[in-house]
Amino acid sequence: MGSEQDPLDRLAIALDTSDWETFETWCEQFGPRVGVLKVGLEAFVRWGNEGVAVARRHARRLFLDLKLHDIPNTVRGAVTAAGASGVDLLTVHASGGTAMLEAAQEAAGGRVAILAVTVLTHLDRMALEVLDLPGSSLARAEKWAGLAQVTGCSGAVCSPLEVAALRERCPSPFLLVTPGIRLAAATGEEDDQQRVATPGDALRAGADLLVVGRPITRAPDPEAVLRRIAREIEDALTPAEIARHLRPSSLITPQQPARLPPVLLPAGGQIWQTHSTICSRGQKQCGPGSQGSNQTAKTGRSTTWSTSIT
Ligand code: C5P
Repeated sequence: MGSEQDPLDRLAIALDTSDWETFETWCEQFGPRVGVLKVGLEAFVRWGNEGVAVARRHARRLFLDLKLHDIPNTVRGAVTAAGASGVDLLTVHASGGTAMLEAAQEAAGGRVAILAVTVLTHLDRMALEVLDLPGSSLARAEKWAGLAQVTGCSGAVCSPLEVAALRERCPSPFLLVTPGIRLAAATGEEDDQQRVATPGDALRAGADLLVVGRPITRAPDPEAVLRRIAREIEDALTPAEIARHLRPSSLITPQQPARLPPVLLPAGGQIWQTHSTICSRGQKQCGPGSQGSNQTAKTGRSTTWSTSIT
């Protein structure tokens, strides 16, 4: 178990493997060493809750990275099930929209920290264009992190190259979690991650938690890489900063939904963000406890809305 100032508290190791023996070994080896063990799609699809239970036994905190993206009712059920398995952090896609994010957050009930994935770190500008998502990944990540914030999620997942801008808009204790971490000396190997940074740069830019997989798990000497990352973290942060972050309360406590400036819909229509929901423009009577539906004047898009006291 790490001390209060353990720099590796800021590290989540991605347990991406399909080999059970390897998975168990990583859980035993890394669980007590780092702040978070992350079970992702590969391990979960293969072993389901059996894998979660093994990781749970060894992890200081357990991160289930399923990147849920479905209708609100289905996501609500999945988040409830994850909570029952003892998961501390769980990902959903911000692009699932506000109703889905709210359903996730409600089901989390303050027991699971919901992290909204913004723009996946393997997508560059051209890949976004192909998806008919024009503009920079930063602009999109800012918009989607804003949705996560306004719906009360505990944090967002973003590229380390976007974390500084997002940190300005989403101050602590909103968590910013960054995969796409690579050590300074590139190996020259093929890599699917595009928007990457070193552990030190990501933390200096405002990241709370670094997600690292292959640079550790595929290294000939993972312990040496862990020591190197620990040194980088100590160089980037003061002991007080290391100790302040990721205490259980800041991990789990859902954020108060914030009031954000209006968001522009792609077609030019405008919606206004309120406490925990979005009201279409013109619904000035929106207040705590009200509900209904409306069509936005410019887009003709139908928006259902309701508000609650938060
Ligand atoms: O091996 P590598 O360090 O690239 O692993 C990164 C981990 O972070 C993987 O488990 C991947 O699924 C996850 N992740 C990501 N990009 C996101 C969200 C999660 O790479 N946007």
